[in-house]
Amino acid sequence: MKEITITTKIKVFRSAEELPSDYQTLLNSARAAMDYAYAPYSRFRVGAAVLLDNGAIVKGANQENAAYSMCICAERTALANASMQHPGVAINAIAVTVQSTRKTIAQPASPCGACRQVISEAEDRQKKDIAIILQGAEGEIYLLDSGKALLPIGFHGGFLQK
Ligand code: THU
Repeated sequence: MKEITITTKIKVFRSAEELPSDYQTLLNSARAAMDYAYAPYSRFRVGAAVLLDNGAIVKGANQENAAYSMCICAERTALANASMQHPGVAINAIAVTVQSTRKTIAQPASPCGACRQVISEAEDRQKKDIAIILQGAEGEIYLLDSGKALLPIGFHGGFLQK
C-alpha cells in the first residue's frame, strides 16, 4: 500500500484591490455578467468572464429552465461563448462570482463538478492552464493556477485515445 497526497495551492486575497489589475478587470466583468443571468428558480445569479490571449473578455451567466436539469452554469456559458466568438484563441483566466437574493454569499464561488470538467477539457484542448479567480458577493478572493487544481484525478480524453 502507498499513499498519495494531493495538495491544492490557493492564493487568498482580502479584496479585489489586491489582485493584479487584469484580474480585477476580469472580476468586474464577471460581476457585470450577472445582469444577464436568468435565474428565476434559484434566485442565485452567477457571473463568469474569461480573459483570452488576444486580450478579449467574454462573459457568461447562468441560464435556468423549469426543467431544472437543463440549467446551464455561468462558467460553461462563458467558455462556449468564447469558443464561438474567438475560435482557437487560448483562455488565460476565468473569474466567477455569485449573488443570491436569499442570503449574502461571503465565501468564494465554487464551480460545480460539471464546470470543473469543462474547464479542464479547455486546458487540455489549448495545452495551457487557465487561472481561476473566485469570489462570492463579497469577501475573500481565491486565485488558483489551473482548473486541474479544482479537479484532481479528473477524467480526460487521454483515456479514450489509443
Ligand atoms: N451555477 C452556476 O452557474 N455555476 C456553478 O458552478 C454552480 C451553479 C448555477 C446553476 C443554477 O442556475 C444556480 O447556480 C443554482 O444552482
